[in-house]
Amino acid sequence: MIRPLLRLGHCQLRQPAQTVTEFNTPELNNLIIDLKDTMKANGGVGIAAPQIGVQLCAIVIGFKSSDRYPHAKPISETVLINPSYQALGDETYEDWEGCLSMKKLRGLVRRHVQIKYSGFTVTGEKIEETVSGFHAKLIQHEVDHLNGTLLIERIPDLKFFGFEDEMQALMQQTGTRLS
Ligand code: NI
Repeated sequence: MIRPLLRLGHCQLRQPAQTVTEFNTPELNNLIIDLKDTMKANGGVGIAAPQIGVQLCAIVIGFKSSDRYPHAKPISETVLINPSYQALGDETYEDWEGCLSMKKLRGLVRRHVQIKYSGFTVTGEKIEETVSGFHAKLIQHEVDHLNGTLLIERIPDLKFFGFEDEMQALMQQTGTRLS
């Protein structure tokens, strides 16, 4: 079922989510269906449970192609319960990022280039993977949601935050910046 998205300013987006302790329950399976439906209906590339008002550590990522991120390479659909990650190396980069909880806004966000993440499938099997670039950024963004953190806190210079249609020129000038 497509659920309403909570938007920037809603207090639940700022609350930490709880660890899932029971896998493969009807509630958890329904939550994942709702997350997928809501993400797809909104053209998203990732979504976290708190964005539909459920304070549980569950995220879904994945897309074939995205109007929101036309240059991003496809990522296979992945459900992650209780996800976490660690950065591999010190390298970070800045790139334009949006969020379904603040549609039409974009910010130049700093993220780790490469991470190793882990989590569980909906039936409780462990997943572990090393990813980089957009895939790594997506995991970092969604895990932030589970801690009540939004992309705004990851923008080093708030001059690079605003409405997408007002920032076309700026977004073209300011590509991916490695550091
Ligand atoms: Ni988001």
